[in-house]
Amino acid sequence: MTLRAVVKGVGHYLPERVVPNSEFEETIDTSDEWIRSRSGIERRHFAADGQTTSDLGIRAAKAALADAGLEADDLDAIVVATSTADFTFPSAATMIQSGLGMTRGFAFDVQAVCAGFVFALTNANGLILSGQAKRVLVIGAETFSRIMDWEDRGTCVLFGDGAGALILEGEEGAGSTDDRGILATDLNSDGTYRDILYVDGGVSTGTTGHLRMQGKEVFRHAIEKLAQTAHTSLEKIGLSGDDVDWIVPHQANLRIIKGTAQKMGVPMDRVVVTVQDHGNTSAASIPLALSVGKERGQIKQGDLVVTEAIGGGLAWGSVVIRW
Ligand code: UT7
Repeated sequence: MTLRAVVKGVGHYLPERVVPNSEFEETIDTSDEWIRSRSGIERRHFAADGQTTSDLGIRAAKAALADAGLEADDLDAIVVATSTADFTFPSAATMIQSGLGMTRGFAFDVQAVCAGFVFALTNANGLILSGQAKRVLVIGAETFSRIMDWEDRGTCVLFGDGAGALILEGEEGAGSTDDRGILATDLNSDGTYRDILYVDGGVSTGTTGHLRMQGKEVFRHAIEKLAQTAHTSLEKIGLSGDDVDWIVPHQANLRIIKGTAQKMGVPMDRVVVTVQDHGNTSAASIPLALSVGKERGQIKQGDLVVTEAIGGGLAWGSVVIRW
C-alpha cells in the first residue's frame, strides 16, 4: 500500500468585473488584435475596490469545500500560493483560515509567483505523505491588478485576478500509476534570472511596487523549461506525453501553451485552455483551469493530468495527478 494525496474537491471564484481588451485601447497605445494575436487573451476579471486576495481565496475555498462535501473544520491545513497577499503579514492563508471560520490546524503561504500553485501542491503532498496532515486545502489566489503599471502596455494587458482551490486527502493506493492522487512532482528555480520578471517594490523600498517583465526573455525560457519539467516528472513514474489525458498549464500565453504541448507530443484537444477568459492570474491560473476544466466536462475521475508552470524567480515545476 502507498499513501497518496487524492483530489476530493475543486472550486474557483472570479471577480464580477470583466474587462475586454478593447477597454485598454482607450488608455494606452494597444489593440484588441495585438493582445489576442501575441497572447491569446480576450478578457480578464479585475477585483472590485477593496476586494482582496484573501476575499477571492475564501470564495474559491468555499466552492471547493462544497464540491468535496466537507466543512472548514474537516481540514488539517491550508496552503495558499500567492504573490499578492493582502498584507506583508499575516499570511493570506491565515486570513482565509479565519474567513472560513476554521478553528483548528494550520495555514501558511507559499510564494513562487506564477509557479506558486505547483510549489503549494508539492508542499501539501509532502504534508500528507509525512503524516503531518490528512486533509489539505490548496489555494492559488491573486490580485495582480494591484501591482500593474497601467502605463506599461507590455504588461498591464496580460494579467487578471482570480482564485482556485483544491482539496487533497490522504488515501491508500496500490502503489501503481493507476492510483488516484499525486503521482510525481518536480520543482526548480534559478535566481540568476530574477531581473527578467520582478516587482520593483517591497519592504526594501517601502512601496508595493509594480510588475516589471522582459516578456521576450521570459518567453525564451518558458517552453523549454516547461516541457523539461513535465518530462522529468512523467519520467519519474515511467510515463510519457502519450499517457497524458490533460495538460493543465499555467495560463500566461497561448503561444507558450501550444509550444509546450507540441514539445511534449500532446495535441491541443488534450490541453485545458482558459487564458482567453482569465488572462494571466499567476498562481491562481492552474487551480482556476482545473476547476473550469472539470466544470466543462473535460477532466474526469481517473484522467492523468499534468500541471506545469513558470514564473518570477525564475521558478518552475510540474505535478502529475491521477484525477
Ligand atoms: O506568468 C509568468 C510568465 N510570463 C510569461 O510567460 C510571459 C512571457 N512573455 C510573453 O508572453 C510575450 O513575450 C509577450 C506577450 C509579453 C509579448 O509578446 P512578444 O511577441 O514577445 O512581443 P514583444 O515584447 O517582442 O513586443 C513586440 C512589439 C514591440 O514593438 P517593437 O519594439 O517591435 O516596435 C512592443 O513595444 O509589440 C510592442 N508591444 C505592444 N504593442 C501593442 C508590446 N506590448 C504591446 C501592446 N500593444 N500591449
